[in-house]
Amino acid sequence: MRLSVSRHRTKEARPAAPLAGPSGLRIKSPDVLVAESGADLEGNGLRRSMGLFQLICFGIGAIVGTGIFVGLSDTVAEAGPAVLVSFVLAAVTCVFTAFSFAELGGAIPVSGSSYSYAYATLGERTAFLVGWCLLLEYGISVSAVAVGWGQYLNELLGSLIGWQLPAALSAPPGDGGIVNIPAVVVMLLAALLLVRGIRESARATAAMAVLKLAVLVLFCAIGLSAFRAGNLSPFAPESVAGITSGASVAFFSYIGFDAITTAGEEVRNPRRNIPIAIMVCIGLVTVLYCLVALSAIGALSSDQVAGRPAALSLIVNSVTHSTLGGGVIAFGAVVAIASVVLAVMYGQTRILLSMSRDGLIPRIFERISPRTSTPVANTWIVTAVFAVPAAVVPLDAVMNLSSIGTLAVMVAVNLSVMVLRRTRPELPRRFRVPLFPASPVLGIAFCLYLMYGTGPATWLQFAGFLVVGALVYTCYGRRRSRLGSAPHQPADEAGEAAADVSAGVAAPVRGA
Ligand code: ALA
Repeated sequence: MRLSVSRHRTKEARPAAPLAGPSGLRIKSPDVLVAESGADLEGNGLRRSMGLFQLICFGIGAIVGTGIFVGLSDTVAEAGPAVLVSFVLAAVTCVFTAFSFAELGGAIPVSGSSYSYAYATLGERTAFLVGWCLLLEYGISVSAVAVGWGQYLNELLGSLIGWQLPAALSAPPGDGGIVNIPAVVVMLLAALLLVRGIRESARATAAMAVLKLAVLVLFCAIGLSAFRAGNLSPFAPESVAGITSGASVAFFSYIGFDAITTAGEEVRNPRRNIPIAIMVCIGLVTVLYCLVALSAIGALSSDQVAGRPAALSLIVNSVTHSTLGGGVIAFGAVVAIASVVLAVMYGQTRILLSMSRDGLIPRIFERISPRTSTPVANTWIVTAVFAVPAAVVPLDAVMNLSSIGTLAVMVAVNLSVMVLRRTRPELPRRFRVPLFPASPVLGIAFCLYLMYGTGPATWLQFAGFLVVGALVYTCYGRRRSRLGSAPHQPADEAGEAAADVSAGVAAPVRGA
């Protein structure tokens, strides 16, 4: 992953070829999106530096973290041994939507991801709300991931020096503490690295991904060595309701696969590599997560695992009768989860940058420091805002909110793929959603099912969040939108302007 935004164009250099439709239904053509990104789809130039392997490592880096290392015990608390079914249900939801992401990521390879796809298909108002929900997928998930990091840091401290931070300083009020200092610290560290413009080298990204996978494979080997089939019975003590809410919790561990599409402007041959990387990542983590869950509940009964902090370390300690194994797992988790914090916080700043460039949120988010070439103010605002829930909100509350926001974004992505097939059937698509339109329709159905599983408290919070988002759009975004204030151009002219810049997708623009 390359952590720099210096490649973004300045406002002056941005081609002005938007298509202004009716307010709120303003559509930004895919050609314009690609043209604005300055993407060279032929793979020439230095910018496109990521190959397929690096892209897969980037995906693993963004996906595997708190959800499996910490959230597993919460999923077990909901579903019991049927946690396996919950993980498969969450994976199926992701697979249908991953097909849609893969088609869109190949057809519109720009870094705005779902926000840009919605802008190109569903209109500006929906795009704004998608960007707003991405605050939950990225921002709130950074808070949740940071909380999980703190649990394993404490576990690591315990096995290294036999001392742990007191609960008052490492847990939020709802979980028996006052403030979660480690969660805030890891966010500050990530922000420091991001504002300095650190570039995580391809080698470091690959090393982190391999380390995470190796630690989880080690866990499986240890857990399976103590497997007792009796632990799987009764299989579903909370029946279907438990499996459903378990799937909603398990879903958090898959969040992040769409980050692959945010690298759309840095990947070689994106139309081929983005779809492949998404599918490989989803397949790999699904198999791994199911094996981890099976090993966990095979080694200890689900009652012993349910809701326990740093559960994977606990299981290994219990199987090996020593704290060494748990310490190794905790070390892997601390490194793995820190890399997710870095990647997700980076994604959040980049999406806000895109929205700011479109005029939908204040311009401070697009300001780039001339010294470091990074969005310094943007990064510190994100850190300050999302450190608050990390410090004082219990993990399950932030995880559920993040999951419901991500699921809403995924509904929009499935809709976008259907709309784009109608409005731009001629766009080159190396990957096409199989069984169209059944696949995106099933994707939407599964997303709604998992949203249902998050429970009434989360729905209420989410509804309030959406209302605030709609107000912000009406009072600010709609009035300040650069697309809305751009002079209207006839469709063909706009298409030609965009096509000049965006080699490879030069097609007449329709459907303003
Ligand atoms: N999927 C990411 C994690 O589990 C958000 O940490």
